[in-house]
Amino acid sequence: METVFDLAGLHRVISKWKSEGASIAFVPTMGNLHAGHYSLLERARELADKTVVSIFVNPIQFGKGEDYESYPSTLEADSNGLADNDLDLLFAPDLNQLYPGGVATDTRVEVPGLSDILCGRFRPGHFSGVATVVAKLLINVQPDIALFGEKDYQQLLVIRRVVTDLCMPVEVIGMPIVREADGLAMSSRNAYLNLKERNKAPLIYATLQRAAQRLRESPHQIPAIEAEGMKALESSGFKPEYFSVRRSENLAEPNALDKKLSILTAAWLGSARLIDNVKVLVDSQSESQ
Ligand code: PAF
Repeated sequence: METVFDLAGLHRVISKWKSEGASIAFVPTMGNLHAGHYSLLERARELADKTVVSIFVNPIQFGKGEDYESYPSTLEADSNGLADNDLDLLFAPDLNQLYPGGVATDTRVEVPGLSDILCGRFRPGHFSGVATVVAKLLINVQPDIALFGEKDYQQLLVIRRVVTDLCMPVEVIGMPIVREADGLAMSSRNAYLNLKERNKAPLIYATLQRAAQRLRESPHQIPAIEAEGMKALESSGFKPEYFSVRRSENLAEPNALDKKLSILTAAWLGSARLIDNVKVLVDSQSESQ
């Protein structure tokens, strides 16, 4: 595995690979890698000749008072893990590489509409921060494919929009959520949970699964199912921000004909903000209106 810390080094390796005709798969991360990230790398290795992982904690996707300063940095352990998993290239830039003019007046990529709902309502500016840094990374890594986890489902759709709307020649692949044995979706932020909270955290997934079952049985009861989900999380000690049933394709509010739905939630447990989602295929919502 090679590691580069600047854009010049990245360009040198990418140019060489391109001249050899190698295909490139890219997994952008903020480090503190877990089995979810490694599942993306494994798929990347299957799909392309060369694999690139970036590790960069992107300041502009964190809001005021969020965990940018305390976000876990584990570069040495990540680097060892990536080398053990046969990564070809690790790109670990510092702030100056990606924000040469500073962050305050930096050019931004905005995805209107999709960025303002669900997580975007509670984290204003977050998805513009994600869209901006992912655009910078894709422009420089020039991958054929880029892989993202479906735990951050709204992020995945925002990135699909960036790639489509900016006409970027890259295929975006969403990969299934990787869960702990008790159902908790893997996340770097799970490290913020104390033991008691950690034992409670799988209730998020259990609540989503119960809601999915209800939705399959009663697809016309969406407002009630959403309210029940909020209440179930609240009464277990979570502080849920939203618990919503949406059209999987674009996160719009579903209509009676939609069959491919997602239930998405974000909830605080202690100092950890946890997000999760499940997909639900409903037979038909129209018969029981
Ligand atoms: O999902 C993440 O880790 C980050 O949001 C990403 C896509 C690497 C952008 O900073």
